[in-house]
Amino acid sequence: MVKRIAVLPGDGIGREVMDGAVRVLKAVSDCFGHDFKYTEGLIGGAAIDAAGTPLPKATLDVCKESDAILLGAVGGPKWADVSPNIRPEKGLLAIRKALGLFANLRPVTAYSQLINASPLKKEIIENVDLLIVRELTGGIYFGEPSERRGKNKEIAVDTLLYDKEEVHRIVEKAFQFAQARSKKLTSVDKANVLESSRMWREVVDAVSAGYPDVKVEHMLVDSAAMKLIQSPEDFDVIVTENMFGDILSDEASIIAGSLGMLPSASLRSDNVGLYEPVHGSAPDIAGENKANPLAMMLSAAMMLRHSFQMEKEALAVENAVSAVLNEGCHTADLNIPSGHCVGTDEMIQKVVEHI
Ligand code: NAI
Ligand code: MG
Repeated sequence: MVKRIAVLPGDGIGREVMDGAVRVLKAVSDCFGHDFKYTEGLIGGAAIDAAGTPLPKATLDVCKESDAILLGAVGGPKWADVSPNIRPEKGLLAIRKALGLFANLRPVTAYSQLINASPLKKEIIENVDLLIVRELTGGIYFGEPSERRGKNKEIAVDTLLYDKEEVHRIVEKAFQFAQARSKKLTSVDKANVLESSRMWREVVDAVSAGYPDVKVEHMLVDSAAMKLIQSPEDFDVIVTENMFGDILSDEASIIAGSLGMLPSASLRSDNVGLYEPVHGSAPDIAGENKANPLAMMLSAAMMLRHSFQMEKEALAVENAVSAVLNEGCHTADLNIPSGHCVGTDEMIQKVVEHI
């Protein structure tokens, strides 16, 4: 059966790393005999330049007709002065919201080959393999009102709002992942201060009744931030609301040695998903063949796994990435004194050859 994939390269290094994802998927479809159909769309700054909006209707239509979406990255200094409601990043928020992609998965793995690329001690990170499940379409990033008030706009308001159903669906997803992994779930909140967090806890406790073999712990976000660096291997699946998840997942990225290694998926209940690297458009290195394409390629592997149920194929990509790292091959962002530093294009070629 044909799988339709929307390809949204975006801005900066987005296009360079997207090239890696598409080449890797072509290798997968050749080896495993699949039929993937790619349709490109504009998003972010590129879309503002061409169509005056960060998410043109044509792009949204392509996404709605696809089984999965690959996204590079959006934004950059070129669009620093556009009005706030058409910023490149708005395109990303809008697509998540329009497609109802409420479950953001961010796996963090400490690759043994990169163990010295992290500023954290080897003993602390060597066994880390965790999954952050972040709520993506609610909370303070979307709550209304969000505005300035007062005669001189001296008051600023944002609203942290959740309804029970929004919490329920993300918590349910997290329990499913915990069940399939090591049966341990940490729910992160700020229940000592926030009403929304107290409701979050109620929902977690209610859902947990349906998963008697999953061990659940509640943790306050400040404490979680500390433990994530102190003893990250104690975590398996972490579930949390939008803003806490945003912050904790960037913190956890330090474990993997570089932002250039971190993939992500944003899913809804029917397994349609958007897959993108955690990093941004890296304007400082854009166009220089320096970007690490592995996060984008590993995002494509997540697409194979979560949207297409192609586990063997996903593993083929992940194993190819690991094999290339085993050869000592790395891009400049990975702080590895020994080994062989290559550009984006050569890195992509190596992974493709391994597949
Ligand atoms: P960034 O993630 O683009 O870059 C941070 C640092 O990491 C830079 O030094 C960059 O060179 C490096 N880096 C990032 N990805 C890399 C890769 N694959 N290989 C090698 N080095 C890599 O974050 P920054 O600089 O804060 O934001 C730049 C632009 O990207 C902004 O406009 C921001 O709004 C946007 N952004 C977009 C995101 C998205 O599309 N999901 C996420 C984060 C930022
Ligand atoms: Mg972030």
